[in-house]
Amino acid sequence: MNLKQQAARQALAYVQNDMVLGLGTGSTTEYFIDLLGTAVKRGDLRGIVAVPTSEATAVRANELGIPLTTLQQSPDLDLAVDGADEVDPCLNLIKGLGKALLREKVVEIHARQFVVIVDDSKLVARLGTRDALPVEIVQFEALTTIRWLQTLGCRAELWSDENESPFITDNGNYLARCWFPRGIADLQQLAIQLSTRPGVVEHGLFLSMATRVIVAGTEGIKVIESPC
Ligand code: A5P
Repeated sequence: MNLKQQAARQALAYVQNDMVLGLGTGSTTEYFIDLLGTAVKRGDLRGIVAVPTSEATAVRANELGIPLTTLQQSPDLDLAVDGADEVDPCLNLIKGLGKALLREKVVEIHARQFVVIVDDSKLVARLGTRDALPVEIVQFEALTTIRWLQTLGCRAELWSDENESPFITDNGNYLARCWFPRGIADLQQLAIQLSTRPGVVEHGLFLSMATRVIVAGTEGIKVIESPC
């Protein structure tokens, strides 16, 4: 079992019968969805319904027979489980390199408990030092929004495939990636700047949202709970 699978398996321990779940997106969460599907199929977990955070997650959950619902029908999630791209010592996160940050955030703010599952390569001293911050932007005048992103102290670019076609999210938007040369100095300030900019739909900073982070490393599993 690889590290992502180990973290996913640990998260299953937080799932109880009759829970309404938020199901994240990405390779780590896929392991969790597979384990959940097996538990539902075997009857080990009953009465579970889940809100997916992407089309891909919805497809996978359907294949496995996990009953799906919507926030409109079930706005109070008992538990959301998702991966992350970076986790800082206060459990602030960067998410979205799986291109699903908008739906992830829309769903996960509804969760009473938000459990994040990662391998230990995702732990950083400061967010933005491992990879880019993804930002979902509208297609209209996208390059103008990218130019504005550069003024925030990062190298920003439109996220495109190998043929230079911009990726389009499940919501019909583009994505930008922003690399901060020394990481993100002021998370709150950046979050406000991004949230209040027309053209920016949502950003990958998930601040003060995680209830606990399950970290799988070669020396075993660590569960970190709100240390700040
Ligand atoms: C999806 O948009 C992301 O937020 C993922 O949760 C994140 O990219 C982690 O992905 P992996 O589990 O594939 O590393």
